[in-house]
Amino acid sequence: QERSFIAIKPDGTQRRLVGEIIARFEKKGFKLVGIKILVPTPEHAAKHYEDLNKKPFFNGLVKFFSSGAVVAMVFEGKDVVRTGRVLIGATDPSQSAPGTIRFDLCIETGRNIIHGSDSNESAAHEIALWFKEDEIANWVSTNPVYEKM
Ligand code: GTP
Ligand code: MG
Repeated sequence: QERSFIAIKPDGTQRRLVGEIIARFEKKGFKLVGIKILVPTPEHAAKHYEDLNKKPFFNGLVKFFSSGAVVAMVFEGKDVVRTGRVLIGATDPSQSAPGTIRFDLCIETGRNIIHGSDSNESAAHEIALWFKEDEIANWVSTNPVYEKM
C-alpha cells in the first residue's frame, strides 16, 4: 500500500484543528497507520525541509515549525501521496480550491497548518525521518469498501 507522511503544523495544533484534519483523511478512506505528537527540534525541522534550505523563508519556516506541537502521521491508501495533496490544497491558501483543508481553514502561506509529502520518494524519506518501522501499525482493513474488489 502506498504511504504518505502527513503532519499538522504548530498552527493547526494551536488552533485545535487536529481532529478536523484527521477526519478529512479518514472520511476519504485513508488508513492511519502511524501517529505521534511532539515538539520538533530546530535541527529536525531543518532536516524535514532541507530541500528548501536556499529559500529566503527557510529560517522562518524552521523556526515556526519547531515552535510548538506537530502531529506526525503516516496514512496509507491508493494514490495517497497525490490525493492527499489534493485534500490539502495549494501551498498558498488563497490559491487553493474551496473544499480543501487549506482553503477552508487558513489564510497565510506561512501558516498553512498541514504538510503532505510531494512524491513517493519524499514520503519514504520523511517517514524514515519521523518514525521507526515498529511505530507503524500494519493493520488490515476488513471493510471491503476501502479496498479494490
Ligand atoms: P509542505 O506540505 O509544508 O511541504 O508545503 P508545500 O509542499 O505545499 O510547499 P513547499 O514544500 O514548497 O514549502 C514548504 C512550506 O514552506 C509551505 O507549506 C509554506 O508554509 C512555506 N512556504 C513556501 N513558500 C513560501 C513563501 O513563498 N513564503 C513563505 N513565507 N513561506 C513559504
Ligand atoms: Mg512541500
